[in-house]
Amino acid sequence: MVQPIQFAGEDRSNATRETLSTKEPLALRTFTPSQAVFAKSAGIFHFTPEGRKLYDYSSGVLVANLGHNPRRWMQTFCRQMGWKPEHIAGGETEGYFEAVTLTAYNAMTELEATAVDRLLKNLQASKGGGRCEQVMWAASGSEAVQKALWACLHRDESRDIILATRYGFHGKKGLAGAVTGSETDHDRDPRVKFISFPMQECDDLSKMNDEFDPSKYRAELDALQQEYGNRINCLITEPYLGGGGSYHPPAEYLQMLQEWCRENDVILILDEVQANFGRTGKMYAFDAYGVEPDIVCLGKGLGNGVPVSAAVGRSDLMGSLTYGEGSDTWSANPLAGAAVIATLDEFENSDVLENTTRLNEIFVERLMRQKETGIISKVRGEGMVFGIECADFGGHDSKQIAIKVVEKCYLGRDGVGIHLLGALAGNVLRISPPMTMTLEEAYASLDLLESLLVELADSL
Ligand SMILES: Cc1ncc(COP(=O)(O)O)c(C=O)c1O
Repeated sequence: MVQPIQFAGEDRSNATRETLSTKEPLALRTFTPSQAVFAKSAGIFHFTPEGRKLYDYSSGVLVANLGHNPRRWMQTFCRQMGWKPEHIAGGETEGYFEAVTLTAYNAMTELEATAVDRLLKNLQASKGGGRCEQVMWAASGSEAVQKALWACLHRDESRDIILATRYGFHGKKGLAGAVTGSETDHDRDPRVKFISFPMQECDDLSKMNDEFDPSKYRAELDALQQEYGNRINCLITEPYLGGGGSYHPPAEYLQMLQEWCRENDVILILDEVQANFGRTGKMYAFDAYGVEPDIVCLGKGLGNGVPVSAAVGRSDLMGSLTYGEGSDTWSANPLAGAAVIATLDEFENSDVLENTTRLNEIFVERLMRQKETGIISKVRGEGMVFGIECADFGGHDSKQIAIKVVEKCYLGRDGVGIHLLGALAGNVLRISPPMTMTLEEAYASLDLLESLLVELADSL
């Protein structure tokens, strides 16, 4: 058995790490060298059981875009559920109170109708949301991707080929796992054919304004068309490669994919599970990239922490599935509807998107500056989602450096640290704090990051 990660002076955290690493399988967690334990969270901070404060530079992997436990969000959420303070206060412990049901299977609530209306209205108001006609709810990103692919495959069963961009991440379950990664991964689903994604052209922010020629990528698609013709059903891509290492392509690439799909009657699925709800600086990445997907997959930030996802798209595609073919126990649970309404309320009535633009300028400048430490070689990103690529340094390879940076940031200084996740693609650290961070918090956290990186570099 792998020994649990332990840190000196963290008795309570260490006890939790010990319990969970012996009583739950290792596989349940992605490797992060800190295995941070959170006692509570508020806004952009997590607090450890020992009382240390950690800037959350992950937002729970792009989930808590509005920060943790935002008061107004929580009030809306509870109001939607019909939860009132007197239901839990006042010493009464017996009996029941009247509120919205916590179950959803084969039933409907007015709450679900409100959530679906609100989500569609919001999508359709965004440039590129014109094909968002029906919402297929799900409970995780990979399930939304899977349901989108089911809808496409049912539309015409003679069209069995799915195109996917290489090194994309769409989840691990079923068909979502099948369109993740590349053809060299084992046990590939023979229906999935991978196409290239421009990675080299956008491996650092300094290349952002370079000319981009999509013709060689188009030639790949044409070759597949020659080979498979009408068997090609759909094409799925992320707006930017997230889990693959934060590669944010020129908009012309996605626009070319869309053009080719339209010319060849191929359905375009845009997997925005990670990008949706403001991460790119726009409400939806399809607006940021100037495309109009036939189906968009939503997740993560959609419920600001409540598990909810959705495939939203053309009603003729969604309508190709019949009773039960997209249903399960948790999809469209009232908790999900209440969370989506509360999250939409915040995005529609606050300046979170404008704040994201302001934060972007600060983060771009300050993250690019971290290259001077010698530890960071490349910086990529947009809006408030960045990847910083570690360099080989001081006799350590870039993957070891990434681990050292996560540990160093976790331990921080004077009771304050930074919560980073284990690296993407081995050596790329994700920087995606809540977009409600104030500018003062941005500067303070970046000052801390910089001083920790300098200290680490000096020690190696
Ligand atoms: C773009 C994208 N699609 C799908 C998924 C899978 O989502 P989940 O982990 O909720 O199944 C992820 C998760 O990181 C993602 O980034």
